[in-house]
Amino acid sequence: MDKLVIEGNTRLSGEVTISGSKNSVLPILAATLLTDEPCIIKGLPELRDTNTMLKILRSLGKNAELNKGIVKVTSTKHPNFIADYKLVSTMRASFCVLGPLLAKFKKAKVSLPGGCVIGIRPVDLHLKGIRALGASISIESGYVVAKATRLKGSPMYLGGVYGSSVLATDNVMMAAALAQGRTIIESAACEPEVEDLARFLIKMGAKIKGHGTPIIEIEGVKHLHGAEHTIIPDRIETGTFMIASLITKGDILIKNALYQHLGAVIDKLQEAGAYINRFDTSIRVRFKRRLKPINVTTLPYPGFPTDLQAQMMSLMCITSGISVITEKIYPDRFMHVAELNRMGAHIQREGPHAIVEGVKYLSGAPVMASDLRASACLVLAGLVAKGKTNVSRIYHLERGYENLEVKMQKLGAKVWREKE
Ligand code: UD1
Repeated sequence: MDKLVIEGNTRLSGEVTISGSKNSVLPILAATLLTDEPCIIKGLPELRDTNTMLKILRSLGKNAELNKGIVKVTSTKHPNFIADYKLVSTMRASFCVLGPLLAKFKKAKVSLPGGCVIGIRPVDLHLKGIRALGASISIESGYVVAKATRLKGSPMYLGGVYGSSVLATDNVMMAAALAQGRTIIESAACEPEVEDLARFLIKMGAKIKGHGTPIIEIEGVKHLHGAEHTIIPDRIETGTFMIASLITKGDILIKNALYQHLGAVIDKLQEAGAYINRFDTSIRVRFKRRLKPINVTTLPYPGFPTDLQAQMMSLMCITSGISVITEKIYPDRFMHVAELNRMGAHIQREGPHAIVEGVKYLSGAPVMASDLRASACLVLAGLVAKGKTNVSRIYHLERGYENLEVKMQKLGAKVWREKE
């Protein structure tokens, strides 16, 4: 197993290019199950999670050839409608093969993904939506077994206790694309990744309106065909580099980045005192003076993304006062608090809130990554800490960041990989 070693207290500057969005590519790969024709996906980030999704597609009877960020998905003569526990349990996003498998084969058997370190993460909204399309659903030996002679479009409300659900919206949108008649999803997720999936489905021949808004309308069609699509840039990776620039008192031009997807993040960083220039496909983030404390509440898009909460907390650790984070999507997503405190941060957790008292500096320490975004937060903290930080269990990081340490090295960071 590898760990990252970071020698902190270096200023990052220069240019970095953002990879394709992880959360976009995973459901888009699942959507290729809706057709027998070839699909070509470009801008694929080479991540552990994308590899897992390619393995799932292969286990479901697809060929997937990957070459320099372009994947061609074609069909074999041996389709399969069972998504195995071993694959689904390693990555929750694999659950979004349920909708396409059911729509294509009229039956699907997909392992329940189980909980994970950031919370319980139920799938009730996925199942509510799929049932509303007329499927029968049973839970058998840890698997969801869904059947339908013909899916039928239907109006449905998909809001849950914590608001809309990204992957439930994706799952239902994919199933409804091949259903008979009209589906209307109310309280649909508005995330740019949902919009990207809708754009891909439309290229395949689907009839979808309202994607990117809370009401999505899908008019089912009989057949979907192959399509070619380029994945949008990863807004979470972009946000991570924006924070990396500020935390190291740096100046970074972030290329292949869309500021339109980061309104809430830009707003908060500017409030803290960042200098941010927006260009067509890039963003420049500069540090000018010691950052002011800020309060952040995570919310569904276009609110502040929960996937940048941990990274933002690292930044708050070195501001000039008290900041408060309120986590409204995953109230237990605070595993990184104890690790940051080991590096000299002053953070107190109170239920879904974290109160962060800024300190002058952090100090390097051995720390342990608990999940994907928490790993990124520890790397950021390591960049600003005095001395050496060892971040172990970085396989979490490899799930969602393409070559993070190489990109950071090019910006001047002293970070490298070592065997544990
Ligand atoms: C997606 C993202 C993940 C991000 C999350 C929230 C992908 C591959 N993953 O995950 O990185 O952190 O959105 O922005 O796109 N919920 C229910 N019932 C359900 C489904 C969800 O109560 O059936 C709850 C969840 O526990 C959570 C909230 O709804 O509290 C939002 O979760 P959701 O949007 O579904 O997250 P994912 O789509 O799994």
